[in-house]
Amino acid sequence: MKVLVATQKPFAAVAVKGIKEILEGAGHEVTVLEKYAEQADLVAAVADAEAMIIRSDKVTAEVIAAAPKLKIVVRAGAGYDNVDLAAASGHGVVVMNTPGQNSNAVAELAIAMMIYMARTQFTPATGSEIQGKTLGIQAFGNVGRLVGAKAEALGMKVKAIDPFLKPEQIVAGGAEPVTSLDELYGTCDYVSVHIPATPQTVGSIGYDLITKMPKGATLVNTARKEVVDEAGLEKALEDRPDLKYITDVAPDNLEVLKEKFGTRVFATPKKMGAQTAEANINAGLAAARQIVDYFATGNTRFQVNK
Ligand code: 3PG
Repeated sequence: MKVLVATQKPFAAVAVKGIKEILEGAGHEVTVLEKYAEQADLVAAVADAEAMIIRSDKVTAEVIAAAPKLKIVVRAGAGYDNVDLAAASGHGVVVMNTPGQNSNAVAELAIAMMIYMARTQFTPATGSEIQGKTLGIQAFGNVGRLVGAKAEALGMKVKAIDPFLKPEQIVAGGAEPVTSLDELYGTCDYVSVHIPATPQTVGSIGYDLITKMPKGATLVNTARKEVVDEAGLEKALEDRPDLKYITDVAPDNLEVLKEKFGTRVFATPKKMGAQTAEANINAGLAAARQIVDYFATGNTRFQVNK
């Protein structure tokens, strides 16, 4: 089968090598499209693709329509909001993700982001310590649980909420369950966001929640920019000069936020949560193996458009 590895943000070279070895070793043909300039480049590249490995690359209805031979798309990572699932299903294309494979990298970044803000973005201004502070984890999945464990090891008190978990499951994961987002935001010095972008979550973190945070609190977003209501965030930062926001996904109003709030706001220049060699290897190789397995045995364990 012809497999296209389409990564606008490339994997580490060692991961690409591993992906090729797995796929070619199973008799597949691999083409790599990296750092492409425009969506049209992706649309053109999929013409004869029968399988694809992607990262945050946008597999839109247009891409699916331009790929008549496509049978499977594997998102090497967790979030698949970049894939038009309805279009894929409509064309009989299986979509999978590789849950958990890049979680540690994202969790380490979330911890680093807390410390970066606590230590005033590494300026000489007097900062604070995260030890003894309370961290609230919004969604206690693969990433959230790892953030919790690392934070606890650093001496933080960890609370969490997850609509898909029972309180005892959160306790088993090492955090104190809270019963509402109001409680999470109202009682935590840091809130780390790990929810996916879905119609239910987009814009769900806004003025009301953010301004519930205690004095001097920081909101950390290594999830998706869309889950934060940017106008609400801006107003919250205006009304509460003690609050801070750090994100791995630059908001559309970043320039305004930077101008108005200076070092109280920070965004990475390009999403880097999963950008470690280890995460690239874990997620990339898992994606390759899932494709090999799908064509060999029909295994759809990680299918997300069932
Ligand atoms: C994910 O959903 O797995 C992360 O956001 C990583 O995305 P990336 O592969 O574009 O870095």
